Amino acid sequence: MTDQSGTIESHPLRAGEDPTTYPPTAEFREQANINDPSIYWRAAEDPEGYWAEQAQKLSWTKPFTEILDWSNPPFAKWFQDGELNVAANCLDRHVQAGLGDRVAIHFEGEPGDTRSITYAELTHEVKRAANMLTSLGVEPGDRVAIYMPMIPETVIAMLAVARLGAAHSVVFGGFSAESLRARIDDAQAEIVITADGGFRKGRASALKPTVDDALALHGGGSSVQKVLVVERTKNDISMTEGRDLWWHEEITAYDGEHEAKGFPAENPLFILYTSGTTGRPKGILHTSGGYLTQASTTHRDVFDLKPETDVYWCTADVGWITGHSYVVYGPLANGATQVMYEGTPETPDWGRWWSIIQKYGVTIFYTAPTAIRACMKVGRQVPEQYDLSSIRVLGSVGEPINPEAWRWYHEVIGAGTAPIVDTWWQTETGAIMIAALPGLTSLKPGSAQVAQPGIRVNVVNDAGERVERGQGGLLTIQRPWPSMVRNIWGDPERFIETYWEKFGDMYFAGDGARVDDDDGDVWLLGRVDDVMNVSGHRLSTAEIESALVEHNSVAEAAVVGATDETTGQAVVAFCVLKSQQTALTPEDAEAALKAHVAAQIGAIARPRQILIVTELPKTRSGKIMRRLLKDVADGKEVGDTTTLADTRVMSTIQEQIRVP
Ligand code: PRX
Repeated sequence: MTDQSGTIESHPLRAGEDPTTYPPTAEFREQANINDPSIYWRAAEDPEGYWAEQAQKLSWTKPFTEILDWSNPPFAKWFQDGELNVAANCLDRHVQAGLGDRVAIHFEGEPGDTRSITYAELTHEVKRAANMLTSLGVEPGDRVAIYMPMIPETVIAMLAVARLGAAHSVVFGGFSAESLRARIDDAQAEIVITADGGFRKGRASALKPTVDDALALHGGGSSVQKVLVVERTKNDISMTEGRDLWWHEEITAYDGEHEAKGFPAENPLFILYTSGTTGRPKGILHTSGGYLTQASTTHRDVFDLKPETDVYWCTADVGWITGHSYVVYGPLANGATQVMYEGTPETPDWGRWWSIIQKYGVTIFYTAPTAIRACMKVGRQVPEQYDLSSIRVLGSVGEPINPEAWRWYHEVIGAGTAPIVDTWWQTETGAIMIAALPGLTSLKPGSAQVAQPGIRVNVVNDAGERVERGQGGLLTIQRPWPSMVRNIWGDPERFIETYWEKFGDMYFAGDGARVDDDDGDVWLLGRVDDVMNVSGHRLSTAEIESALVEHNSVAEAAVVGATDETTGQAVVAFCVLKSQQTALTPEDAEAALKAHVAAQIGAIARPRQILIVTELPKTRSGKIMRRLLKDVADGKEVGDTTTLADTRVMSTIQEQIRVP
């Protein structure tokens, strides 16, 4: 389906799909990093050889001789006898190559303050921070929690931890004290790096008080010895004597001399917590050599990065995997120049992102469909006021991009010419797995399309057999890949159970998918488990349900992901109140419970709607039928109710609630 003319072709249409495909223009193809389609079959013939070739592009202090050890599945080891320093790969080697004056980060604070930091400066700061952390007792293998806004010190902190061979656990700044504490405890972090606050939506949003609250929970005793505080917003905070230290005061004692040691390729690099099907978040463990190999390879090839000339911008927060792989490790390992923006897209107005693109001449822009839909709602007249002509590649991540949003993104932001790479991957995969290569692929709006070279995916039925083309099934990944999750921190059984038990040696992603009839492109169909996708963030129904039933007025709760025009899905909860609470008006109960969920988990988990009902629909064996509740929340006709213990429940519920 690819041709060189840049003309638009058609492919066989299925319900709701856009029939148009967008081949690369001859001009784009010509200059693309990857423009020889034989890469796919060469990598398929020898995936290990392909990945070893990519790994060689990094600097190893001790070269590896073994590529993959899969002798104890599902515990993979990549390049295990090799040694490298991840931070030095992102910093020192660029300086040594004479690129020290290249800007690594153009930082744009929400209030308008800016800083451009070169690779030489970033290296210097990371070395100082590494010295500071060493004197605070950080050793290889330790865990450091990072709870920060989107500011350069966050990147510096992550790289300083990595430089010492310790592992970071970045906790998104929107998480509550409870969530932060659970993550600190699970990883047994001894140091927390935070800031007084960050700027969001035009005001200072405090962070340090949440750290204080987290550490005061459960009687106060925790693994944390020291809290390092970066000064950003200058809001009033309290400092605990002997525990809390100001970063800017401490750092003055340390110089920029620090030699990076090599660590084994399988040394833990970070833990990142993500929601699963149970109430307890999973600590996804990533290691060093394989992770950096795939993060940098995909960043270079999927975005067609030219580090000498491109200005790259990924809008993700470093609290998520996208921020880890495509703000920190991928771009910096590739020596890219990137924009980092602290705030929200609507501050001071909806032109903010576009003004940043114009100001820095951003050439590659990577964001999420939910943000694109929000901008669409505001209208094209806003971006049209800015010069976005520098843009040459656009990326999308987090959920399937609906064709309408795809076309808007393509036309309004990409001038109708910039290719859009829709990238499917997960916290667990560590890096992009399915995406177009923009110099080769004829783009199809709404499909993530092609497995990356060296990656093999299959869509299978429940029995693990490949489904026919055109049929829906479960997405699996065959063969280990370099940036794959190595374990769930402290819980290898859960690791096996969650991802490997279902199909043996194939990784089960938890997503439904369909393979195209005509050319095998992959279409993602959403989660098949109880994980919701709200604004591209993963939330667990079970985690929100357990927060709700912890509230003293709630007897039972069921949570579903309802379809939402902007956020993809939205959290809708159905609650049965305890009998003594029925005097509460539904409005009061709804407000109190929404606030409770936000306080327990974080504002991202706050339900869009809480419906107070007298009973939940259950099967005879007592299982809540969320499928029926989802129909109600979506305002759809309720599906088959014959397996309910009491078939009248659904009509009672429908009478009780008002769906907006
Ligand atoms: O359901 C898929 C969806 O997001 C899930 C992974 O979420 P998380 O680990 O938070 O990582 C998000 C950023 C990589 C997947 O299981 N997802 C992610 N990207 C896409 C997607 N669904 C469809 N198309 C995508 N491009």
